[in-house]
Amino acid sequence: MQATPIKSEIVFEKIKASGLPNVGKASIRELVRLVNEIEIASGEKFIRMEMGVPGLEPAKVGVEAEIVALRSGVASKYPMIDGIPALKTEISLFVKNFINVDVDEKYCIPTVGSMQGGMASFLVGNRCQVGKDKTLFVDPGFPVQKQQLRVLGMGYETFDVYNYRGAKLKAKLESYLSKGDIATIIYSNPNNPSWICFTEEELQVIGELATKYNVIVIEDLAYFAMDFRKDLSKPGEAPYQATVANYTDNYILLISSSKAFSYAGQRIGMLVISNALAKKQFPDLKRFFSSDIFGYAMVYGAVYSLSSGTSHSAQYGLAAILKAVNCGEFNFVESVRVYGERAKLMKAIFLKNGFRLVYDMDEDQPLADGFYFTISYPGFSGEKLIEELLYYGVSAISLSITGSERIEGLRACVSQVQDGQIPVLEQRLATFHKNHPVV
Ligand SMILES: Cc1ncc(COP(=O)(O)O)c(C=O)c1O
Repeated sequence: MQATPIKSEIVFEKIKASGLPNVGKASIRELVRLVNEIEIASGEKFIRMEMGVPGLEPAKVGVEAEIVALRSGVASKYPMIDGIPALKTEISLFVKNFINVDVDEKYCIPTVGSMQGGMASFLVGNRCQVGKDKTLFVDPGFPVQKQQLRVLGMGYETFDVYNYRGAKLKAKLESYLSKGDIATIIYSNPNNPSWICFTEEELQVIGELATKYNVIVIEDLAYFAMDFRKDLSKPGEAPYQATVANYTDNYILLISSSKAFSYAGQRIGMLVISNALAKKQFPDLKRFFSSDIFGYAMVYGAVYSLSSGTSHSAQYGLAAILKAVNCGEFNFVESVRVYGERAKLMKAIFLKNGFRLVYDMDEDQPLADGFYFTISYPGFSGEKLIEELLYYGVSAISLSITGSERIEGLRACVSQVQDGQIPVLEQRLATFHKNHPVV
């Protein structure tokens, strides 16, 4: 066996003891556990790129506001299901300031993370019309959303958008939508895991087809404003976060506070329904909800059933964050820009050592540097590469669990990598490259 940065016997033993039949196919949480165990047994710290968690301090203004709210006694009181008025006002303002779309505060609803926002959107969006009950994933995507559909007993279709960018997207989407059973389309933008960002032309195609085929777009903005190629930091000024909302009324926006405001632990996100969709009546909703009005079914049907609203103090925290952002006191984009800078550095190190980028272009523009990037190594499948990199103290996840057809690829997340670890990454990858010469 070749010498590797982490003792190979330890890695081998721990993989065996994990009972995982195929490390490369492990879920993110299974990999986290395995890497924790190898770290403890070897005494070596890994370059951890498997989990997409924020690596920054939470937005301070939110924490302070939550403490004040808790001291004032909100913990003993149920919050309004559709959110406290102060938060609803700030969400609506935020959407205007940073996306430039007008949504009534009535339809700006806090949820228990975007995770719950997605679940609620499926619960209502896929039940508006008998026989039209599936979700189309414009993949690659976030695996848990497919799990949500499986848990709900709902069907889905999926395709990897890699080969259908730009002008090719329309025909591909129509091949699914024309069958008539797709109720919702979901994608994240910027995309987890690939970090592609749809162009205006692509968003226009998605929006126009959503209108044509009466389909609801669930636009997952978990990485809001993190296309760092543009400066999206100024409230009320262009450029704005790109969105399908400019091209259709059939949309729900899921805006997570986990990454943009480093607020993942508080489990609060925003579900924003277009005014037109929220007011729309769908008689078939009556099969499941007391009302056939979309917005009403969302709040008093879905969100009520799931959790009866969102943590009271977290709502005060998010309201304070958004207030500071809306009035220009807190530049949240600047606070997360470090992810982009780190990605640029890390990508360069991977490329120098024989790795390749898998998803690399938004049509004619190189991808932005952000929270994730995707890599491959000649001669390795993604699953084999995951396993091999463990011997080199580097962890990531395989794209094969994300609906990507690029099964040679891995997703690398930059958020947990510390500045001091960059030279270690460089050394480890150089050793990997030396031990696996590219012919
Ligand atoms: C694409 C995508 N959607 C949704 C989420 C979940 O967001 P939240 O923490 O707000 O539930 C994530 C988190 O990683 C994500 O990557």
